[in-house]
Amino acid sequence: MPLYRRPNGIDLPFASEITPQEIFESRRSFIRQIAVGAVGAGSLLELTTGDAFAQAGSGQKLAAKANPAYVVMDQATPYKDAITYNNFYEFGTEKSDPAENAGSLKTRPWTIAIEGEVKKPMTLDIDSLLKLAPLEERIYRLRCVEGWSMVIPWIGYSLSELIKKVEPTGNAKYVEFTTLADNRQMPGLRSPVLEWPYVEGLRMDEAMHPLALLTVGMYGQVLPNQSGAPVRMVLPWKYGFKSAKSIVKIRFVKDQPRTAWNITAAREYGFYSNVNPDVDHPRWSQATERRIGEDGFFTKKRKTLMFNGYNEVAPLYRGMDLKKYF
Ligand code: MTE
Repeated sequence: MPLYRRPNGIDLPFASEITPQEIFESRRSFIRQIAVGAVGAGSLLELTTGDAFAQAGSGQKLAAKANPAYVVMDQATPYKDAITYNNFYEFGTEKSDPAENAGSLKTRPWTIAIEGEVKKPMTLDIDSLLKLAPLEERIYRLRCVEGWSMVIPWIGYSLSELIKKVEPTGNAKYVEFTTLADNRQMPGLRSPVLEWPYVEGLRMDEAMHPLALLTVGMYGQVLPNQSGAPVRMVLPWKYGFKSAKSIVKIRFVKDQPRTAWNITAAREYGFYSNVNPDVDHPRWSQATERRIGEDGFFTKKRKTLMFNGYNEVAPLYRGMDLKKYF
C-alpha cells in the first residue's frame, strides 16, 4: 500500500517497507514459487507478468555504448521486476498499476520545451533529443525513499550535454522538470494524491554533474511506458522520486522550484533528498534497503550507503548541514 493511514485518519503517500507489506510481499513470492513448482513450466509467474510485457511494447532495441566509468558490480535487477514494480502515480498508486495502465501513454509525437534562463531556448522532438549526444549504457543503483532499490542498465547521456547546448544565463540557479499531465492518458490524475503535473528540480551544479542521466532506454531497449517513456531523469545519488518520468519541459530558473513531494509533505521530502542512511524519514529508518528481486523469507537487508555509494557527488554538498537540507 503506498498510502499510510495516520492515527488522525489522514492518508499520507508512501509507506516504509518495514511494514506488514514486506511480509505480504515475501509471502506472495513464496506462494508464487510454490505455485510455479507445483504447476511447472507455463507458470503463474508468466501469468502475473505477461501484461507488463505487452505494455512494454515491441521492446524496440536501442543501441548504446557501455560506459565503463559507470558500472556497479551488483547484479542487475531482473527485467521483469524492473517493469512490474514501479512508482508512477499518474497511472495509479499501487506498484503494479503503471505496468497495467501505462499502455495508454502515447510517446510519439513527443516534444520537450527547454526554456527560462537560457540564451538558446528550444523545443526538441524526441527523435532529435535521442541524437543530441551519443547514447551510453550505464549501470546505476536507484534507491527509493520507501526502502527498496534496483540495479538497472539505463541508456542515455549526461544532462549536461543538453544544458551546454541551450547556454544558461548567469541567472540560471536551478533546473525544473515538468512531466506530462494528460487526463485522457493518465487515469491516476483523477486522484489528488499529488499536485499535478509532477514537478521536480535540481540545483544547477547538481544538474551539471556527469552522473545526472537524461534517460531514454533501459536493458538495451527504449524505455517501457511504465518506466517513464520516452524520456526521464535518473539521479542515482538521490531518492528515486527526484528522477522525474515522462518529461515535457525543462526550465532554468532563479529560485528553487516547488517540487511535487515537497508540496505534499514538506517535513518528509526535502528539496535535496540525497540518499542518506543517517537521516531517518520521520516515519521510518533509512539505514537499510531491500533489493528488488532478492527478496525471500530469509534475505538480509542491505545497508544503505551515503549518496547511495556515489561519493563523487560529495563536493557538491561540502559545508552544508545535510540534516537540515535533507
Ligand atoms: N515521475 C513521475 N512523473 N511520476 C511519479 O509518480 N515516481 C517517482 C519517480 N518518478 C514518479 C516519477 C518515484 S517515487 C520513484 S521511486 C521512481 O520514479 C521509480 O522509478 P521506477 O519505477 O523506474 O523504479
